[in-house]
Amino acid sequence: MASRVLAVDDNQINLKMISATLLHGGFEAYISESGADALSRVEQIKPDLIILDIDMPEMDGYQVCQTLRQRPTTRHIPIMMLTAHDTLEEKVRGFEVGADDYMTKPFQPAELQARIKGLLRRSALQVVPEKQNVDGKFISVFSLRGGVGVSTVATNLAAGLAQVWGKPVALVDMAFIMGQCALMLNLTLRNTWADLAKVNLNEIDSDLVQNVMMKHASGVSVLAAPRFSVDAELISPPVVEKVLGMLKKKFAYVVMDLPHDFSETTLMGIDQADELMLVLAPELASVRATVGSLETLNQLQFPAENVRLILNWVFEKRGLARKDIEKVVKHPLQLVVPFASETFVSSINLGIPPVINAPTSALGMLFEDMAYAFSREEDIDSIPTNPSPAWLRVNERSKQARKR
Ligand SMILES: Nc1ncnc2c1ncn2[C@@H]1O[C@H](COP(=O)(O)OP(=O)(O)OP(=O)(O)O)[C@@H](O)[C@H]1O
Ligand SMILES: [Mg+2]
Repeated sequence: MASRVLAVDDNQINLKMISATLLHGGFEAYISESGADALSRVEQIKPDLIILDIDMPEMDGYQVCQTLRQRPTTRHIPIMMLTAHDTLEEKVRGFEVGADDYMTKPFQPAELQARIKGLLRRSALQVVPEKQNVDGKFISVFSLRGGVGVSTVATNLAAGLAQVWGKPVALVDMAFIMGQCALMLNLTLRNTWADLAKVNLNEIDSDLVQNVMMKHASGVSVLAAPRFSVDAELISPPVVEKVLGMLKKKFAYVVMDLPHDFSETTLMGIDQADELMLVLAPELASVRATVGSLETLNQLQFPAENVRLILNWVFEKRGLARKDIEKVVKHPLQLVVPFASETFVSSINLGIPPVINAPTSALGMLFEDMAYAFSREEDIDSIPTNPSPAWLRVNERSKQARKR
């Protein structure tokens, strides 16, 4: 069946060109000459994608985009912005109001067609099929001190689990102020926690939660932090409690990127955790923060055997020695991540974590093995019928290690 595309532009000539391109590309074309008209007919047309001009009188493309994102019936439709101006500022603003892609006029018909196909392919990935309830494993990643690699570890763990098992994995950004999970996976902030916080608690069901999550090609579904810090205040503990409970039933793995505090919602993320990863850097302040965290966890009666320490070399030289750190924190280090600034800078800029971008590099293998080590016993104990390339690599490595 041909995909339905609605083009919105106040200029007749542009509309003619766009619809000719659409028809030629095998799409069903619908046109609208104003934002207001498009908004009044969109529910009827039910487009699979919308092309929006920015410069329009009365209601501009940003406003139309924002309104579409607010309506539950239209918030999932991919939006391509089309404009005559090619400035970074406009692009950023377009993405902020929830556009998925951006093209400048005049456009090449072949490029427009290709981009539309790309967007439609990605949006098809957004639909998570109904599944029976599962008993998911919760892994929370935490540090009281910032900048030590919590988000890096959480993102690579989630992507690694998805690659190894091919099972649904949720990555939940609990750093409601300026959380970076979506950015680390190069996902446009189409929906965030704020969309869940803005509806009544009793309207939150697992379909809504899954629709709000953004699906990454690796198989990870991301529940992203809000675009604006002010929205963080809307995310109340009852909302978090309800959402986390639902995620556990729908995802084989739920990985949480926790903020550097012991707020009520952070404590919920800790409380839910089957395993808690404490990330630290080899410097005094981070070691102190880890000792403090372990004390607090002890007071909270979080089982010490479920805590795993990950030492991350976020800087290059003169760090504290592993054995000295272990002596002070009185807990063994499970894993040491080496300093790798070039890999990480390019991975953030590209929005592709090393475990996906370079799975056979030293860092990629380390994160793949880490993901395997944190897997559910039932997964580790069963040999998959269709093992993934990642699973085969991990198993080959562990065979080699046993031989040694
Ligand atoms: N092993 C490493 N080697 C080099 N750079 C690293 C390493 N691990 C993480 N980084 C870099 O350190 C920075 C902080 O990492 P990240 O954002 O994951 O930390 P965080 O604890 O989540 O910080 P925040 O306080 O911002 O939430 C990032 O730029 C990341 O790329
Ligand atoms: Mg972070």
